[in-house]
Amino acid sequence: MKVIYPGSFDPVTNGHLDIITRCSEKFDTVIISVLNNNKKTCVFTVEERMELIKASTKHLPNVEIDSFSGLLTDYAKEKNSSIIIRGLRAVSDYEYEMQMALVNRKLFPALETVFMVSSNKVSFLSSSIVKEIASFGGEISCFVPKEVESALREKFKGGPR
Ligand code: COA
Repeated sequence: MKVIYPGSFDPVTNGHLDIITRCSEKFDTVIISVLNNNKKTCVFTVEERMELIKASTKHLPNVEIDSFSGLLTDYAKEKNSSIIIRGLRAVSDYEYEMQMALVNRKLFPALETVFMVSSNKVSFLSSSIVKEIASFGGEISCFVPKEVESALREKFKGGPR
């Protein structure tokens, strides 16, 4: 069974890795799909985000990294996959995720969104929080893989952007 885990991943954090690792244990192939979205201003380019995910998941053989633009449902059809994985960190994620899942099912009726509940050790994390801490030179080693830590240090070496 091939599933798609889509997101901005700007950058990938230990919160995303929690979901990716658990998915890789349950499904045959996990395609991590980085959204190429010009509406969101990202710190990392799509290529950089993909490289960071690749480096952080190299120990997981059934994980593929890709990018997409446009509708997620069109991308899922193109990839021959009808399962989308989303992580739920808190009740506050639920409303937005529910709306997306329902819209996506309307656009692609065979599509199922499977929610995985984040481990409570990482459920407070978001990419923005990590970027903010890094921008002020704070300690981020417990929030992100080491490749991401170095990349964030490099991006913010001149201070906040
Ligand atoms: N652990 C840690 N952080 C997590 C997380 C987890 N398990 N799950 C989500 N997050 C964080 C992300 O880091 C991100 O944080 P940020 O806002 O600080 O950057 C935030 O939650 C949003 O997560 P993300 O998964 O990147 O969602 P998104 O809203 O940027 O994108 C898509 C979601 C890609 C699935 C959606 O925008 C999409 O499908 N777009 C394509 C266009 C489309 O089809 N639209 C119609 C859909 S209704």
